[in-house]
Amino acid sequence: MLSIENLRVVYHDVISVLNGISLNVQDGEILVIIGANGAGKTTLLRSVAGMIDFYDGDIIEGDIKMNGDSIKGLDATDIMKRYGVTYVMEDRPIFWYLTVEENLGAAAFSRWDSRVKPDMEKVYGYFPVLQKLKGRKAGYASGGEQQMLAIGMALMTNPKTLMLDEPSLGLAPIITAELFEIIRQLNASGITVVLVEQNAHAALDIGNRGYVVETGRIVLDGTAQELLANEDVREFYLGSGKKERKSYKDAKRYKRRKRWL
Ligand SMILES: Nc1ncnc2c1ncn2[C@@H]1O[C@H](COP(=O)(O)OP(=O)(O)OP(=O)(O)O)[C@@H](O)[C@H]1O
Ligand SMILES: [Mg+2]
Repeated sequence: MLSIENLRVVYHDVISVLNGISLNVQDGEILVIIGANGAGKTTLLRSVAGMIDFYDGDIIEGDIKMNGDSIKGLDATDIMKRYGVTYVMEDRPIFWYLTVEENLGAAAFSRWDSRVKPDMEKVYGYFPVLQKLKGRKAGYASGGEQQMLAIGMALMTNPKTLMLDEPSLGLAPIITAELFEIIRQLNASGITVVLVEQNAHAALDIGNRGYVVETGRIVLDGTAQELLANEDVREFYLGSGKKERKSYKDAKRYKRRKRWL
């Protein structure tokens, strides 16, 4: 189990972004984290992945534990190799000038075993389109294909826990549906998934539980079904609440009287 305990994170010593977040991720589940732009979702994943210092951020309070061991302050490669936690960043980090297959090979940098080839075949099993494109430069792939490659690269690290930061960003609904179905299959194969998403509906549809983050705090949590049925989540994250939102001013006023505040 991954547990985040009262985490406080600041950037540049002064910009306070996470203000005491606590949450846990159970082995084998899909845990969904939703929240508006700037709520701190990416900061949370960067902190868990051991990458917060690359962004001039500091964990000033709290702890991050994997099965009881503190992983706070370990470097990113250690967290990946020793604890099996792999983070797929928001901006789909792939090598544009390498081929799709070379990208998959490069992602296996942290491994010494001889199973790289068979694991590549496994990735092609999940993402047949990557096999079709394996000899092509990754930079020519579409947004959806690049996202699949980014996840494929993460799979080459043999993750136990996969943290995905807005995988549906900029993708057409049909591609998102395809991608989320593959995420569901990866989870069914035993990989724990932490899914940060603005596309709350698609995420909660495949998720087991979820948390809502606002300004660096958890304001609500529950099973995916509970969150999908919650009036405020429907209003603000699913766009399907009962109340018609008439103007931004109304929305702000409504926001002030949300139950979780
Ligand atoms: N390196 C940084 N230095 C300073 N401030 C930062 C840095 N990275 C993020 N922030 C700020 O921290 C806040 C939270 O950012 P973060 O990227 O974690 O939010 P988010 O919930 O992932 O948002 P989004 O949905 O837009 O991806 C924002 O106000 C952002 O401007
Ligand atoms: Mg983000």
